[in-house]
Amino acid sequence: MRARLRTLAGVVLAALALPAPAASGTAAVATAHPVATEAAFEVLEAGGNAFDAAVAASAALGVAEPYSSGIGGGGFWLLDPAEGEAVMVDGREAAPAAATATMYQDESGDLVEGASMNGPLAAGIPGAPAAWDHIASEYGALSLARSLEPAIRTAREGFEVTPHYRRMAGFRQEVIQRWPAGAETFLADGEVPAEGTLIRQPELADTLQALADQGRDGFYRGPVAAALVEGAREAGGVWNEADLADYAVVEREPVTLEVDGWRIHAASLPSSGGMVLGETFNILDGYAPERGSAGTIHLTVEALRRAYRDRNAHLGDPDFVEPPAHLLDPAYAAGLRTGIRRDRATPSEALAPVPAAAGGHHTSHLSIVDGDGNRVSATLSINYPFGSGFVAPGTGVVLNNEMDDFAAKPGEPNAYGLVQGEANAVEPGKRPLSSMTPVVMERGNDFAVLGSPGGSRIITQVLLGIRSVMAGDRAGAVVERPRYHHQYLPDVVEYEPGALSAATREALEERGHELEEDGPWGNMQAITGGPAGVEAASDPRGEGMAAVRPVAAP
Ligand code: DON
Repeated sequence: MRARLRTLAGVVLAALALPAPAASGTAAVATAHPVATEAAFEVLEAGGNAFDAAVAASAALGVAEPYSSGIGGGGFWLLDPAEGEAVMVDGREAAPAAATATMYQDESGDLVEGASMNGPLAAGIPGAPAAWDHIASEYGALSLARSLEPAIRTAREGFEVTPHYRRMAGFRQEVIQRWPAGAETFLADGEVPAEGTLIRQPELADTLQALADQGRDGFYRGPVAAALVEGAREAGGVWNEADLADYAVVEREPVTLEVDGWRIHAASLPSSGGMVLGETFNILDGYAPERGSAGTIHLTVEALRRAYRDRNAHLGDPDFVEPPAHLLDPAYAAGLRTGIRRDRATPSEALAPVPAAAGGHHTSHLSIVDGDGNRVSATLSINYPFGSGFVAPGTGVVLNNEMDDFAAKPGEPNAYGLVQGEANAVEPGKRPLSSMTPVVMERGNDFAVLGSPGGSRIITQVLLGIRSVMAGDRAGAVVERPRYHHQYLPDVVEYEPGALSAATREALEERGHELEEDGPWGNMQAITGGPAGVEAASDPRGEGMAAVRPVAAP
């Protein structure tokens, strides 16, 4: 196994082999909601490419999964054109100008419970609408307005409450009830609505229409921006109009790894996904993996323990904090390997601590391949279910609570139990470190597009997904396989029911690992392709939909 980071090492990328297209005229789409999968096909049939379809599907997910992602949130869109280099559109939320390192602490320096989680103070400046506008104008074949049509229609006509909606709304019911605009839309007289209830979002439809009509200015300037700022400030937020007007998407080079002959493009900073994958693959280089064996699971956990530790200690928004170049150096990984025993778990506390001065089914993913072989892998978020629980009156926009992805107090765990350092402390204009890891990978004529929500567990899920593809699994098997996870702290190997056999559990416990059954986690959306054809699959843990269809151009 060999992982090599090309971007940070500064090695010039060799000319990309032309990706194998999906069967001619055939497109594949996997998203977390049927409405979004249909939105993608609608736009493809109108003559759009995979990038237009990604805009349509992202916007539709934001309407039909208001607990997962949306116009009030952000994400990372990994675009891999059939010809040319892959690029990551960073539409991650940014801290407002009035944010400070201690904004979620009281005078004694203690975290104020819920402050980084609930209400507009928890919200970063949204990046999704700017990303949609950017992708449509720079990469799309259709207008932004055309690609937003299905989302606007769904917002006006409504979507049906599902069992999963009910779980998410129940989980955040108490917070949603605090502010009327959200409670009136997402609850029924303060209660979780019955299955099948139509959720209509006319104000969101108007906001989306303003974006469709005016491009990014329809959201970041003018009446929508004014309503967002006024609503947020009245409810204790600190946004101002310049925060919105100044928001900009950033095009970044993805992290590109080479592992066992596969070229893997993954999200780069401010997502930690690509870096953690790269360090993990580097550490595992040199061990001969045996699929599913206790020994391989042990070594994977040891590699993840070290890579997550480095993530938490060193990584943050690269526009604020320089990532240490050695993290992806094979020599560094070789040094870490010398500390790994095959017969014994390393307690996380035996590793250098993260210097204090130095998850699931919310958040969403889409994977798309069009008939020309353009590919998109995008993970989208408002962070917690229903984000901050706050809807700015008159806008229909659910504000994210992505500020909790910062280290609100370095050294203290966040909602996902991540104990992070100064590199990810809050600063004005800074983007919180993410775990979202959209991936596109290829080897010869074989390819895969995949990603998942799941908070801090995203990177492990994607790692296991990549290995499943490398072992020859097709999309259906990739999304289904049971998962395990370790993230340095808490020092425990979590596993989904069925992920570890009794014999494997015993072998891991003998090595000193603490185990905990949990889950299910994640909602992976994957497409695989190769000589055996193209397959798209949506995680059976979720309510998504995947399809491979011939697309007749108009
Ligand atoms: O960016 C991140 O890492 C988190 N905001 C993602 C949150 C998430 O996946 C929640 N889903 N279960």
